[in-house]
Amino acid sequence: MSEPTTTTTQTGTPVASDAHSLTIGADGATVLHDRYLVEKLAQFNRERIPERIVHAKGGGAFGSFEVTADVSAYTRAAVFQPGSTVETLLRFSSVAGEQGSPDTWRDVRGFSLKFYTTEGNYDIVGNNTPVFFIRDAIKFPDFIHSQKRLPGSGLRDADMQWDFWTLSPESAHQVTYLMGDRGLPKSWREMHGFGSHTYQWINAEGDRFWVKYHFRSQQGDLHLDAESAEAIAGADADYYRRDLHEAIEAGDHPKWDLHVQVMPYDDAKTYRFNPFDLTKVWPHADYPLIPVGTLTLDRNPQNFFAEIEQAAFSPANTVPGIAISPDKMLMARVFSYPDAQRYRVGTNYNQIPVNAPHAASVANYSQDGAQRHGFNAPTTPVYAPNSFGGPVASAEAAAEGGWESDGELVRAAYTLRSDDSDFGQAGTLYREVYSPEAKLRLQATLAGQAASITIDEIRERFFQYWTNVDADLGAALRAAHATAAADGAGA
Ligand code: HEM
Repeated sequence: MSEPTTTTTQTGTPVASDAHSLTIGADGATVLHDRYLVEKLAQFNRERIPERIVHAKGGGAFGSFEVTADVSAYTRAAVFQPGSTVETLLRFSSVAGEQGSPDTWRDVRGFSLKFYTTEGNYDIVGNNTPVFFIRDAIKFPDFIHSQKRLPGSGLRDADMQWDFWTLSPESAHQVTYLMGDRGLPKSWREMHGFGSHTYQWINAEGDRFWVKYHFRSQQGDLHLDAESAEAIAGADADYYRRDLHEAIEAGDHPKWDLHVQVMPYDDAKTYRFNPFDLTKVWPHADYPLIPVGTLTLDRNPQNFFAEIEQAAFSPANTVPGIAISPDKMLMARVFSYPDAQRYRVGTNYNQIPVNAPHAASVANYSQDGAQRHGFNAPTTPVYAPNSFGGPVASAEAAAEGGWESDGELVRAAYTLRSDDSDFGQAGTLYREVYSPEAKLRLQATLAGQAASITIDEIRERFFQYWTNVDADLGAALRAAHATAAADGAGA
């Protein structure tokens, strides 16, 4: 064991004791000028920052992404060029639960990835499902309120969850994933990740493409059964966090293979459904998976708070060669994340080591603000344009990522195309992707959900919702509920 160093105050002065406050005599009053006692208690009182408004419970690890294929025909981003390897941070999370909530409660799981690239940080903030519950950001706060807690009792509530979902039929596809096996992953290591949105890639010639990201877990896409998940929730609330930490400590480094679906820019104009609608997947038959590279997690955080709690991921963090798309959810997320992080972590959150670029430098005229750490040399001018050699913006390096757009300002749903529907892909998922066993598990989960709804009108909408997904499924749920109700009445 090494010799301990002397304990100091936050300003480096040696302290006299960690056991005894300064008092007037051994049995007397404590004095206010015990600066170390005051500093220690005050610092302690400020240890917590607000938890994330969503995805509060999570965990993560560092690693690297190595490009193993050549996708330079589609993007000029340095991070995806042949031979590139970059440092990464991946954070997994649950959506609705608070900081201490059990990892194995049924939920969608977050999959947030930060690439520390030579062109700045690039973030993909996705989930373990390829779609989402809604397609317009203006519904997001309402959706989340319905999944969290009642204001009076502080309890979660099936009535409000199903009220929102059944009044928002575009949710059907994602709810079919959530109530199926993806809602209970076996571990964070054993699940796939998806960028979910359609993003834009731009190659060296300026050609544009639409892309979707798929991270396929080399550990498999496995699930827990409902009984085990419930038992684990009681026995070990941090089950996924522990599993990831222990696997990495043991040298068992999880890996994901990144694939992309690529749609030529002009296809989007005439494709049979809106390819920017976040409630839809692109069939692989139309746009097959193209390999890009492999992500490996091999380093646990040294400090969970500093490196995971304070980590700030954002769809706004793009790099040259990559941009967003006209997806109404994505455009709003570009605003929402940095705004949340300025409040949650602080104005200068991007100067914290985990959020600052690791392989690129920062040069701009931003200054001051609470907790400022980095600053320009005093000789650097404080405004642009200037004649004194300060940083200059570069259209060649960064101006790209647009699309044609014209029209009146309106508040309207996406223009419908021939194959746009709320329930179509949910039905396909149920009928053609789920195995017979997975179908039965989904039915059992939904039967439990039907029983937890207390308002008849909402339960009736629930049956109609699932009938719209699949007529046989709806009928089976209705019949199972009637039987259970009759059994209950007869008991
Ligand atoms: C318009 C819709 C959405 C809004 C307004 C929104 C907003 C937010 C906010 C404010 C946070 C907390 C950020 C922080 O404090 O650091 C967050 C976290 C997160 N969101 Fe969203 N979100 C939306 C949709 C989505 C979608 C579609 C996905 C996945 C495809 C997603 C995945 C995540 C993940 C994974 C996190 C956790 C990030 C982390 O690990 O730190 N969100 N979201």
